[in-house]
Amino acid sequence: MARQAKTYFIHTFGCQSNKSDSERIAGDYEARGYAEAKDWRVCDELVVNTCAIRQSAEDRAKGFLHNVVTFFDEQNIPRPKIILTGCMTHHGHGKIYEMLPAVDEILPINEVGFNQAAVRKDSITRGGKKHAWIPISAGCNSFCTYCIVPYSRGREQSRSLESILTEVERLVGEGYQEITLLGQNVNSWGLEKLGIGFRKLMMEREDFNREDLPDNQTQYLQPNGTPPFVKLLQALSSFPQIEKIRFLTSNPWDFHDELVEEIGRNKKIDRFIHLPVQSGSNSVLYRMNRGYTRETYLDLVTKLKAVDPLITIGTDIIVGFPDETDEEFQATVELAKTVDWKVGFVAMYSPRPGTASWRIYPDNIPHTIKKQRWEVLDQIINKDNLQVRPKIV
Ligand code: 5AD
Ligand code: SF4
Repeated sequence: MARQAKTYFIHTFGCQSNKSDSERIAGDYEARGYAEAKDWRVCDELVVNTCAIRQSAEDRAKGFLHNVVTFFDEQNIPRPKIILTGCMTHHGHGKIYEMLPAVDEILPINEVGFNQAAVRKDSITRGGKKHAWIPISAGCNSFCTYCIVPYSRGREQSRSLESILTEVERLVGEGYQEITLLGQNVNSWGLEKLGIGFRKLMMEREDFNREDLPDNQTQYLQPNGTPPFVKLLQALSSFPQIEKIRFLTSNPWDFHDELVEEIGRNKKIDRFIHLPVQSGSNSVLYRMNRGYTRETYLDLVTKLKAVDPLITIGTDIIVGFPDETDEEFQATVELAKTVDWKVGFVAMYSPRPGTASWRIYPDNIPHTIKKQRWEVLDQIINKDNLQVRPKIV
């Protein structure tokens, strides 16, 4: 009699990067002969892919694990093997096993990799077109002071052009027409070895001559100065079958002019650009280590609208960052009244253990104030948006 295949189930919390990682974890299971279970209650191995961006996200994963344990205890049946992955792995093995004793194994995110073929089960939905998420880089080197990602996902590592092209070739062969490129900072694709100091200099100083870079650094720039991410967009657009390209997420600090021009020119690139500002106050942006100012952000929005007025922009904002004064918050309100953001994901600051802001600043804005500020911005960006109102940019 044929032995029944062992089964796996993946429960995914959090962002698109986690969803994309789960597709590759599924690919790894299927390559090893496992079949997907319909439900976590009936699987042999349960992968919990976690998010740690805010405490509430970690609490959701803990709540889920509690439900899993309760279910199997009540039924008095053995639990599946529970494997924890995703951003909660930043706590380290010892702390996780102590905090979540139900966990049997930890899968570090950097072991998920890019090259395992993804099992895309629910990606065929966008506007009836076949759509796929494609990770182009892992990790982040930006070290925004509030953010756990550089600790949970590690240093930035770009996927090779060859590996991306191979995957896209396969996808177009399967009829895919739309792709979304994923990375914590997609515009820095291929530039991580250049060093953040040089890259900041390149962005900040108009007189900066790219040829002045030390020899071992120039190899990472194209001879004509075109940033690698722009080259990647051009290479992917050359597939006639690909109709739409999206990318998530761009950091405003190194959003090169060449990228703005490419978006203006290349209509395969979606007209919606997600451009997290995080705060409209320069002093808060400085404390966040975001590497740009309110003025440079506005400048970038103006440039994008200039190359194509049909471009729309979305954003992320954190309210209640440590020491955020009323004036600093008002600067964000003013910005929200100025920039015509189509959508804004507003979050209340949540201190993440191990990050710089957690180490340096007390979480001193009361929850009630954070909530009020959250509501003010949500109203302006997401609710008033439904009405017509004049905006400058
Ligand atoms: N607290 C609140 N929001 C956060 N984000 C990232 N880290 C934190 C934090 N510690 C938000 C940022 C980011 C989005 C993915 O989550 O706005 O852009
Ligand atoms: Fe976090 Fe900043 Fe990196 Fe985004 S760019 S993942 S907010 S450190």
